[in-house]
Amino acid sequence: MKVTIVGAGNVGATCADAIAYRRIASEIVLVDIREGFAEGKALDITQTQTTLGFNTKVVGSTNDYAKTAGSDVVVITSGIPRKPGMTREELIGINAGIVKSVAENLLQNSPNAIFVIVSNPMDTMTYLTYKSLGLPKNRIIGMGGTLDSSRFKTYLSLALDKPANDIQGMVIGGHGDTTMIPLTRLASYNGVPVSQFLSEDELTKVAADTMVGGATLTGLLGTSAWYAPGASVAYLVDAILNDQHKMIPCSVYLEGEYGQSDICIGVPCIIGKNGIEKIVDINLNEAEKALFAKSADAVRNMNNDLKSHLA
Ligand code: NAI
Ligand code: 2OP
Repeated sequence: MKVTIVGAGNVGATCADAIAYRRIASEIVLVDIREGFAEGKALDITQTQTTLGFNTKVVGSTNDYAKTAGSDVVVITSGIPRKPGMTREELIGINAGIVKSVAENLLQNSPNAIFVIVSNPMDTMTYLTYKSLGLPKNRIIGMGGTLDSSRFKTYLSLALDKPANDIQGMVIGGHGDTTMIPLTRLASYNGVPVSQFLSEDELTKVAADTMVGGATLTGLLGTSAWYAPGASVAYLVDAILNDQHKMIPCSVYLEGEYGQSDICIGVPCIIGKNGIEKIVDINLNEAEKALFAKSADAVRNMNNDLKSHLA
């Protein structure tokens, strides 16, 4: 199986490293616009083969899309990351032009690929890719919910003082500080609702920490995070390549599901070899439905800024 990752920066290179280490692809192609940069990252990752014990071929390319030909999955991380104080929304003008041209180049060379969109604002970039390429919606997946859910589970495990892998939980809605919806009501510690162990105030704090999870790291690092984002992309790509049918919240084009249409936003999806195998319609309560509708309004507002790119 062949995976191409465009953008060999912090997230793209970490994602290539995590996919190589998971031993789930026979070939990874890293592409970047910066001369020699992707080649350098690919060579560095290749030199971990003997110590980490994988045989994946890792190739770098400076904007040569011929090398990406025949990819099964393509991941778009190219663009600029959020700087301190910058909202994801402000990224839109710059990243839309980059994502659209990269997506078109990828499709020309890999007509059957599943697309995973990471560049921010991710829900809007996923919508742009869906609208620009004209592919069936199952082949366009926005990655954000995987990461937000992993942050949610991490904060729950810290509040509970229990192992993170014993925690189940999901974040749906937009991938934004004010638009994501950590589903505290449905989160559990080994199947037991977390509300049996944490007070209302503690759960509110976990949700609030989750929502600013990315911004907290941007404040600390001076740029946005990459280890958890890269690992989250690898987790999603693994579910596709190995047809795992895992339920993962992803940004997908909605046509009436969750009461929304003509928008890409995070909802629980079954992920397999065809990308989005199914959208799972979970029963939200009235408060959660209201939050979802508000989140969709905010994402739709951002999508309005795409008009010139969709013309
Ligand atoms: P980075 O700056 O480290 O890497 C971006 C790379 O894209 C750079 O190496 C740059 O040269 C390259 N690039 C720019 N234009 C290009 C083009 N036309 N073709 C090929 N390569 C091009 O940034 P980082 O930290 O890797 O973040 C990448 C994107 O991912 C940002 O938009 C960031 O906000 C987003 N992100 C999304 C997350 C999510 O959960 N959806 C999580 C973390 C970051
Ligand atoms: C993150 O959530 C900024 O989307 C990026 O870390």
